[in-house]
Amino acid sequence: MSKHNESWGSRVGLVLAMAGNAVGLGNFLRFPVQAVQNGGGAFIIPYLVCFLLMGIPLLYVEWSMGRFGGGRGHHSTPFILDSMAPKQFLWKYIGVFGIFTNVAVAAYYCYLESWTLGYIWHSISGTFKGMDSAQVADFFSGYTAFDDYSNVAFWVFCLALNTYILSRGLSGGVEKVAKVGMPLLIAFGVLLAIRGITLKSGNAGAVYDGTEGLNYLWTPDFSSIWTPKVWLAAAGQIFFTLSVGMGSIQCYASYLRKRDDVALNAMSAGWMNEFVEVVLGAAIVIPITVGYFGIDGMKDLVQQAGGLGLGFRTLPYLFQQWGPVLAVVAGVLWFGLLFFAGITSSLAMGTPVLGFLRDEFGWKRTSAAWAFGAIVFILGLPTVLFFKYGVFDEYDYWAGTVSLVVFAMFEIILFAWVFGIDKGWEEITRGADMTVPIIFKYIIKFVTPAILIFVFVGSLPGIWDAITNKAIYEQIGKATDGAVIEELKRKIFFVNISRILLVAVWGFIAFLVYKAYAKRRREGRFTTSEI
Ligand code: ALA
Repeated sequence: MSKHNESWGSRVGLVLAMAGNAVGLGNFLRFPVQAVQNGGGAFIIPYLVCFLLMGIPLLYVEWSMGRFGGGRGHHSTPFILDSMAPKQFLWKYIGVFGIFTNVAVAAYYCYLESWTLGYIWHSISGTFKGMDSAQVADFFSGYTAFDDYSNVAFWVFCLALNTYILSRGLSGGVEKVAKVGMPLLIAFGVLLAIRGITLKSGNAGAVYDGTEGLNYLWTPDFSSIWTPKVWLAAAGQIFFTLSVGMGSIQCYASYLRKRDDVALNAMSAGWMNEFVEVVLGAAIVIPITVGYFGIDGMKDLVQQAGGLGLGFRTLPYLFQQWGPVLAVVAGVLWFGLLFFAGITSSLAMGTPVLGFLRDEFGWKRTSAAWAFGAIVFILGLPTVLFFKYGVFDEYDYWAGTVSLVVFAMFEIILFAWVFGIDKGWEEITRGADMTVPIIFKYIIKFVTPAILIFVFVGSLPGIWDAITNKAIYEQIGKATDGAVIEELKRKIFFVNISRILLVAVWGFIAFLVYKAYAKRRREGRFTTSEI
């Protein structure tokens, strides 16, 4: 059994921490851009279907798995999964994904989180004053290319802050940050969303109404509803935004007591995330950008800025159009909101590592927290140093997308078919403060695993294209300038190295799980698989 006993201070704290885990940069930066890249209104139906058929079932499953494993002294997925499958030694290695994903996502996520601190500073100090839109976009490129190394300083500070809070424990650190951060984030988000949707053409230099952007996102468009790419993107966004398939929900839930509710808590945190994503997340970046550049201009910007850059490359310029005082206020609200969204998620990524080191190797909380900080620093360094060669995006693809789907697929099979849906249903409903609709028993057993297998198989061609660097070779084929070709070849080198690094990290965690298992046997602390 684990020697460490920690628990949540209060139910409100737990739900806010879980919601904080889910609500993150994905809600405000990734969701709007994914929606635009996948046809605006065409995205929203697959997105909502994925939420109902994968998001909600996986929330129930992960919360109850966590409580089940936690009751047996396990606080990270290798031994939580192991405890659910007697005499099947493989599951603890599937559980490696639930530590790997957190470490690898934290490695690039904390860098992104640190930009928000840098941009709060630059908003207050007036850096963007008088800049035109191209200069603000260039500033972003310079910022990530070490124009003054402040990006590194903010990054190291951000890592140290995460580490320190983690070292204070769940109720003394994580929960306190969630209790302050979540209400502030929602308040900041509401203010900016009101500004976004009340933006009127002719007002503060806007050319179009902000509501045009909102209509673009929300008017269902059935024309591309059968495009597999749109469904894969929608599924990917649901996983990323809810933090399902990561291993962090199971870890947080492992600190519940045996009869604590999981059903209502899971729904409260999940629906809070959806409110923040589809209501607030949709009402800021896109409406404001459309207000100044129109739908086509906004699409061009999304194309240039890539996945997460729009909020940094474009908004600081648009805020300047609102006058000097509002520009500072809006900058602080926007980047402050992103910071709270980010830190409440990155703290959740640290917790499984702490749980694992403490359970298996008896580490003290503070040492385990600093170990997490050090790992994220080392693994994050390539994303900082070689950002322009796509290392950051590479981590996001493998850890933030593929790994989530793979892990979710295996865990739902484990829960519904190996552990058994009847026992699983009993876990979900025990102590529940709400009636869980019985339909979910069948969805969890048949529908969610089937869709996950379908999504996984459907993404194999894309995974193969990524492994073979198809897109970069196509760019090389079209390029005529020798310098551009050289740069693209360098990019291939860096993305290949970063993949090897990620595989090595996965292997290293698997090795630690193997050692932990051997240690348990030596000490007579048998895992459930041997009982
Ligand atoms: N769920 C977190 C986010 O949306 C990771 O950013």
